Amino acid sequence: MIDFRSDTVTRPCAAMRKVMAEAEVGDDVFGDDPTVNMLEAWAAERHGFEAALFTASGTQANLLGILGHCERGDEYICGQQAHNYRYEAGGAAVLGSVQPQPLPNQPDGTLALADIAQAIKPDDSHFARTKLVSLENTIGGKVLPLGYTQQVRALATEKGLQLHLDGARAYNGSVAMGVDIAELAQPFDSMTICLSKGLGAPVGSLLLGPRDYIQRARRLRKMLGGGMRQAGILAAAGYYALRHNVERLAEDHENARYLAQQLQQLAGFDTAAHPVQTNIVFVDVSSSIDIHGLAKQLHTQGIFIIPGYQGMRLVTHKDIDRAAIDTFIGSVARALT
Ligand SMILES: Cc1ncc(COP(=O)(O)O)c(C=O)c1O
Repeated sequence: MIDFRSDTVTRPCAAMRKVMAEAEVGDDVFGDDPTVNMLEAWAAERHGFEAALFTASGTQANLLGILGHCERGDEYICGQQAHNYRYEAGGAAVLGSVQPQPLPNQPDGTLALADIAQAIKPDDSHFARTKLVSLENTIGGKVLPLGYTQQVRALATEKGLQLHLDGARAYNGSVAMGVDIAELAQPFDSMTICLSKGLGAPVGSLLLGPRDYIQRARRLRKMLGGGMRQAGILAAAGYYALRHNVERLAEDHENARYLAQQLQQLAGFDTAAHPVQTNIVFVDVSSSIDIHGLAKQLHTQGIFIIPGYQGMRLVTHKDIDRAAIDTFIGSVARALT
């Protein structure tokens, strides 16, 4: 099976399964799980925050992250392409009565500073209260430059807003830029990290932030049914992922560049408009190619892609190596002839 649909599809390796099997556990809702406690304490320190919370998913971490900053009737500024606006079932609005104020993402994934400044609503009874700016790094595989996030920090501080980072793939950004994760995290009041994407754990994310904020998020997590019991088995996998699977993300980025180059050689496939920065490859596909038919044909060979409208997004990860990419390219080339 060669699966390009997402980096969420990775399976835990034998060593990760071993630490899971051997993890010391307790009841985490009582605060008794030593492995969860260790992961939270280690992660807070490592990323430069006061406290951390282990959550079931990135979606849950983002939701708690937003609700930790905003109350009913508040709003958060985010990108039109932001995962926590577009792909999380409107959780902040549905469950928190927090209104999103989406802004266009620029081609490099950023939100224009002028757009952010203009979107901040004055203190007036007509308006929701603007409380938070939420960025995403990486976004669509693109890395937000450090200088940019520092500028947003300065603007947020000037306007009295909090700054959140959806860092589901922040480690991809850190590895691609060659910048320590704590430096990438530094401008933000809060941040999420997904352990179950490129880092290769089966389940789990982290929310990082100030102590009282994480305390509020812990209560909200319980309210959402996200209080897990002997969660140390999962936290052990997350800790293993953070200690062993960070540097190797460079390999995924290298493979993504290779994949884009190989696709570019095939008639009807064009990756030139989407330079690869991390582990996500976007391909424009000519209308002469039946991309849905192609996906079905590949599926019969154990190759999984998600076809889009005249294009597709392919994601590299630890369970895809060079040989798998060559097999995929060979299959596509044969299908085209
Ligand atoms: C940028 C980003 N944030 C958050 C999430 C949500 O993570 P989860 O699927 O664990 O809920 C995803 C998932 O793909 C994502 O890509």
